Amino acid sequence: MTPPPPENFAVELRGITKRFPGTLANDAVDLTVRHGEIHALMGENGAGKSTLMSVLYGMERADAGSIRIDGREVRFTSPSDAMAAGLGMVHQSFKLFDSLTVAENVVYAAEPRRFGLVDRAAARRRVRELADEHGLAVDPEARVGDLPVGLRQRVEILKLLHRGARTLILDEPTAVLTPAEADSLFGVLKSLTARGRTVVLVTHKLREVLEGSDRVTVLRDGRVAARLVTSDTTADEIAAAMTGRAVELDRVHAPGTPGEAVLRVTGFSTDSVHDVDLSVHAGEIVGVAGVAGNGQSKLVEALAGLRPVAAGRVTLLGADITHASATERRLKGLAYVPEDRHAVGTAPAASVADNLAMGHHRTTLSTRGLLPPAAVRAHARRLVERFGIKAATTEVPASALSGGNLQKLLIGRELAHEAPLLLVEQPTRGVDIGAIQNIHDQLIAYRDAGHAVLLVSAELSEIRGLADRVLVLYEGRVAASYAKEEADERTLGLAMAGAPAEATHEHEPPDTSPRT
Ligand SMILES: Nc1ncnc2c1ncn2[C@@H]1O[C@H](COP(=O)(O)OP(=O)(O)O)[C@@H](O)[C@H]1O
Ligand SMILES: [Mg+2]
Repeated sequence: MTPPPPENFAVELRGITKRFPGTLANDAVDLTVRHGEIHALMGENGAGKSTLMSVLYGMERADAGSIRIDGREVRFTSPSDAMAAGLGMVHQSFKLFDSLTVAENVVYAAEPRRFGLVDRAAARRRVRELADEHGLAVDPEARVGDLPVGLRQRVEILKLLHRGARTLILDEPTAVLTPAEADSLFGVLKSLTARGRTVVLVTHKLREVLEGSDRVTVLRDGRVAARLVTSDTTADEIAAAMTGRAVELDRVHAPGTPGEAVLRVTGFSTDSVHDVDLSVHAGEIVGVAGVAGNGQSKLVEALAGLRPVAAGRVTLLGADITHASATERRLKGLAYVPEDRHAVGTAPAASVADNLAMGHHRTTLSTRGLLPPAAVRAHARRLVERFGIKAATTEVPASALSGGNLQKLLIGRELAHEAPLLLVEQPTRGVDIGAIQNIHDQLIAYRDAGHAVLLVSAELSEIRGLADRVLVLYEGRVAASYAKEEADERTLGLAMAGAPAEATHEHEPPDTSPRT
């Protein structure tokens, strides 16, 4: 009797092992991708996803293992071998020529020719055909340098399709996209697979996997932690596979017990923020929700002293700080975690220890305004431990940290001030699932220690989980305000779209502080 033929996969990796000095990046990894599916390759930062894709695409040589494409064993020594076998990869940093048009980029190095010359009309037709077929609308004559990121990504995809790629590999494709661009990318991927192409989607974002994939392979520490069928799994199951422990996603924390008003803002206006009234009390987290660009960042930057105030009044613990500088505000008890951790939050060339000590010149860390190195190191070790910051040593530059670890550094440093008021923007953006839970727990503990927190987040689940009250900003104004129990996803969503479901109420805790 002849055995049944083995299933023929679009991509079949068996026992792939890849070692870097000091790191086992892939440890006997099996990955099987079926024809016509969107296969998500998931895992936290450093799990080995990009390495596995580099091996598949002929950019890195595996130490062990085999690769089959459409059932045939292959040995790639370069990406051009992989392309010849029908693979195409969109890298995180695009490889396009800004000064050339869309059509020129798409056909680059594979130009249609006529009498030995590049046939430009044919190139434009080809782009239109491919674009129409796959719902990848983009103007063939546009200069790539003038296009937004989402459209440049389409050009990359068109380029691969022009070269005949049957399997497309996208490494963290949404990292650079707005939510709307990401949605449209997923529409494109679905249409590609509906027409028989295969997609390998590398990501660490749960929502994308649940909404946009057919099957999932989860890597953890270089090994396969789970193989799942998307329709049969849950966010919790994937998160547990990624982190190696049970993770309670979307946990809603118990409300705090607010005390006196710490921050009081009245009639406040700054660039595109109008007439905002708000207060944050001790032992309370006030969440600010809103679609990006509705004034949340500008409000917080102005409160941090980084933007001039056009009108209104701001008091911190009763003291007027309306026109105080950022430094004066810090001294009076304000800590700030900005959205942009690279440009504003940290000094990339300085060490982890020095970054953690920044702004602590006037705290218990300092002796007569100086920071003794031993104290700086001890302080750094405490925070590295408490926040699980992964750094080789506390002396490496901050630029050596991954985005998620840099975020932990920033939050750790600011919480360590024990300032009465914390302004925090997007506390878990780009952070691994396991670390998100830790950051949330730390913010709740900070609140429960009697501090006031103003939280701006684009993640509704984060706002709902942490905030005791929620304000919705719409076109620079407070459009609605909700108590924790009223702030369900639908209610917030409507208010964020400028159409609050019901009249807004006054939910501020009674003010026990003396008015100034
Ligand atoms: N070229 C390299 N040299 C040394 N170590 C590397 C290299 N590329 C990746 N690594 C290490 O291999 C591990 C897996 O990295 P990577 O595949 O980039 O993970 P992911 O894409 O899942 O975030 C990490 O510990 C990373 O530091
Ligand atoms: Mg990667």
